[in-house]
Parts: sequence; structure tokens; C-alpha cells
Amino acid sequence: MTNPAERSRSALQGPMRVANRMHLRATGLDDEAIDKPFVGVVHTHSEVSPCVMSLAPQAAAAKVGVEVAGATARECSTVSISDVWTMVHETGPQFSLISREVIADSVELVLQGQRYDAAVTLGACDKTVPGMLMALTRVNIPGVYVHGGAALRGWSKGEPINFYRVFGDMDRTLAGDMSEDELEALNRDAMVSVGTCPGLNTASTGAACAEVMGFSALGTASIPAVYSQRIALARKAGEHAVRLLMEGGPRPRDWVTRESLENAVTVVAAMRGSSNMLLHLPAIANEAGVRFELKDMIDILRRTPRITSLIPNGPHALIDLDRIGGLPVVFKALLDGGLLHPHTPTNDGRTLAEALADAPAPDGKIVRSCDDPFQPDSGLVVLQGNLAPDGCIVKTADIPVLVFEGPARVFDGDAAARKGIAAGEFSAGEVIIVRGEGPRGSPGMREMLDAPIPIRQRGMGRDVALVTDGRWPAGTGGLCVAHVSPEAHAGGPLALVENGDIVRIDAQQGTIDFKVLDEEIARRRANLPPPQFWSGGGVGEKYARVVGPTHLGAPTHSYR
Ligand code: FES
Repeated sequence: MTNPAERSRSALQGPMRVANRMHLRATGLDDEAIDKPFVGVVHTHSEVSPCVMSLAPQAAAAKVGVEVAGATARECSTVSISDVWTMVHETGPQFSLISREVIADSVELVLQGQRYDAAVTLGACDKTVPGMLMALTRVNIPGVYVHGGAALRGWSKGEPINFYRVFGDMDRTLAGDMSEDELEALNRDAMVSVGTCPGLNTASTGAACAEVMGFSALGTASIPAVYSQRIALARKAGEHAVRLLMEGGPRPRDWVTRESLENAVTVVAAMRGSSNMLLHLPAIANEAGVRFELKDMIDILRRTPRITSLIPNGPHALIDLDRIGGLPVVFKALLDGGLLHPHTPTNDGRTLAEALADAPAPDGKIVRSCDDPFQPDSGLVVLQGNLAPDGCIVKTADIPVLVFEGPARVFDGDAAARKGIAAGEFSAGEVIIVRGEGPRGSPGMREMLDAPIPIRQRGMGRDVALVTDGRWPAGTGGLCVAHVSPEAHAGGPLALVENGDIVRIDAQQGTIDFKVLDEEIARRRANLPPPQFWSGGGVGEKYARVVGPTHLGAPTHSYR
């Protein structure tokens, strides 16, 4: 039988490895500790955002679990940056998505470079979650993902604050309907502790995916960041990582199969979670050698009803879901509705159906059954057509117009769009296209916070449609199409659109086309200048030259 700790032993046994043992002794380990298996405890704790500031005590608890279970824990941290901050960059790289790759690569480097036998990874913001899942899958040693948990939400005048109201208040202030002092006062208490944004943002949606796929123990993602329970669960995760190593059990790639990916998309749809996870799931799949792309999600997003009422789709926060049993309540409702594959492995090796056998029933307020959903569809639609042959995403929830046809108004990049839209260079009935903001073009797939604001301020959200190969942070009230693939910078058809071309978006049929004759499209393509890569140096320049297409998750190493 092979030694489960053979990775670390290969770095520590025999006279040739004396320098490594010397190094470990210099870190304070004795011979007994050096003779045990090694478990890397890797997290993204830092002071850059509240999201990740809950991770240090959880990582410390995970180390205790590792040691109690008979292995030696080694702690390491890596970077994280907050999407909220990176949205303000008008030109140049959008660092957030790039950080996902840096996180995955850096965790790979330490787990492989140090020959650790197993891992506990901890994350807690939009890109740290997929980055950690990608790293675990890539390295494929026994491992567990621990999510950091959401922040506590604030209260004002006896009412819980909906965290997302900050964006509405921002609009009102910009429109002159609220003073900046009022804005500050109203939002001072919106987020009152460390932890991730307390609604269904990308981090929480990603944590739900991690749980249903098997990376995390069931019932853990919804526990608030500052609850003491988190210390206990992190300790258990440390123990479990050692158990997976010593006794065998699912490895990360066992958790990343077509069926588990379909389950994850179903959960995103049923919660109407962040559409960013529809970008990250193909990237996680890529690490397991599974080709899973945007078009594979079309039917799932169509058939899955929304069965939760979590912020921003309802009044409840994750802490409310936690009080009724956490995500297993959602998973069980989906399982009972026949919408989840029942035999995928969970974190402890049982099948999903076995592990959810005793999960609580929906309460009817926060979670409903599939027979009695809050809405009959997910409100997330993948479109395809001659403008997006490999797909794109539109959110249809609460959008009154599902079919939109109008002349294109083209802006090359976010900076031009901000300027043009603020100057009123658009009209009702137009399809506003902001291109060159995909993974290669930005580089980093910009999330364009500011460009739509003047549209909303003029009350024209429903009168125009927005289309981009980048991302929109929040709706204008009308159709907002994002993630167009292939992106303009890679020669996607979006690069060929001219002002005045008629664009038709049909979210009912799932299509997006521009009405230009094939011969004319070919003529424009022949005249398309070669793309200019971002040449400002640094990580953005490196990233732009290697990043893959959006529909495959924008990976930076060979996608299959
Ligand atoms: Fe980090 Fe929202 S910005 S979770």
C-alpha cells in the first residue's frame, strides 16, 4: 500500500533531504512533527477588505484540527482584492478576475512546491472562492474548502438593512435627492462586522456551489463569519482533511464532474445567485479536465425555479437561511423536485441523497419547494446568436421587456462609454454596446459600475438595452447582456458591429443577433485591424496574452 504521506516523505527522507529537515527544525518543528504527514492550511486573510478578515481565527482552528488528527499543519496566506474597489478603475487592468488566477496559481505553487500531503483552503470574497476551488482541483490532493462566512447585517430604526440598498442610495445622492451626509448616515450601519457581503453575491453563491459539489461540509457556508460555530467547523475541516488523507475518500477531482457542475448551476439558478459563478464554474471544470461551458447551462437555467427569497431577490439574509437549516434545506428541496443528481459525492463521501436524507423541509418563507416556487424560472438566461456564438448572459428577473430590437450605439471600452453616456450620446430604443472589456480586452473583464448610472438617473433604464463582453454590476431596469463570448478583442462578432446596425435580443427564445448580411460581416471581418494587447506592463499585460474565452471560464492555462 502506498504511503499516504509519500509527497512530504519524498522531500524529507534520506541524506539528500537533510537541508529540508534543517529548515523545518528552524521553523520550530521537532522530529516527531517532521515524521507526520504535512497539511497545508492556506487562506486569504488580510486587511484589504472585511470579507477576508474572519479567516485568521478559522485558519488557526483548522490547524488545531490537523494536529489533533495526527498530522503537522503549515499555514500560508495568499492575496485577495475586493471587487468593490477594482470597479473604480476606468482604464487598464480590472485586477479582480486576474486575482482569481493569481490565487489559484499561488496556492498550487505552495502545495506542490512544499510537497504537502493534504490541504485546507479558506476563502471569503468573490475571486478567493473560485480561486481556492480551482487550486484544490488542480493539485488534487486530499483537501477541504472552508468558506469564511457572511458579515452580520446592520439594523436601522428597528428594521434590518438590505445591504444592496447602498446602490439605490448612491443613485439618489447623485440625482440630488439625498445629501452626501444622509448617504453616509444611512449606510454607516449597513455592514456591521467582518465577513462577506451579506446577500447572494458571488462569494456566497460560490460557497453554495462548493457545498453542493462536495468541497465543503454540508451546512457550513451559511454560518455567519463571526459565529463561534465557525471555529468548531474549521477545526473539524482540519481533522477531515487528515481523515481524507489517511483513510482515503473523495479527492477534489471526484467532486468536479459534469453531474456535480450541473448540480452547482441548478443551485445558482434556484437561488438566483450571482451570474459570475457561471463564469467560474467552467474554470473550475477546466482544472479537472471537464469541458463545461455556457451553453451547457441553458436548459438548467430554463427549467429551475427560484425557490429562495434571499437578498437581493427577497428580504432574507444568509443568517436567516442558517436559522432554518442552511443550504441543505435548498438542496433537499431541489433533490425532492428531481432537479439535482442524487449520486454525486459530498464532502464526507456519502452521496448527496444519503447526506440530505434528514435535511429540514422548506419553511415556505425563506425556502419553498419546487412545486410552490417564488418564481417559475431562475431569471438567468443564456443567449446565443450571431452576436454571441458561444453565448452570453442576461438577467430577466423583474425586467418588463424580454424582447428588444433597436439600432446599436457602440462604445469602445468603459472609459468611452462613461463619457458618452454621461454626455447623453444615446437615445431611447437603442442597444448600447460597450465592447473591448472581455477578459483579454480589459484586460480582466471589467465590471462597469459607473457607465449605466446616467441612464438610470434619466429614468431610461427600460428604454435601452446594454450589451457587453465585460460585466454589469447591477441592472439599469432593462435588459443587460454581459459575458458575450467570444469577446471583441478575440475577434468576436461584437467587434464587427457598427452604429445603427439593428440588434435583436430575445430573452424568451434565448437569442441575440445583429441583422447584417453575411457578406457584409465577412467584409468587416477582413478589414478588422489586429487586436492591440494591453501593453502597460505588469500582471495585466501578462494576463491578456494567455487568458482564454469567457464561455470556458476565462482560464489562463490550457483549456480542454
Ligand atoms: Fe468581498 Fe462582497 S466584496 S464578498
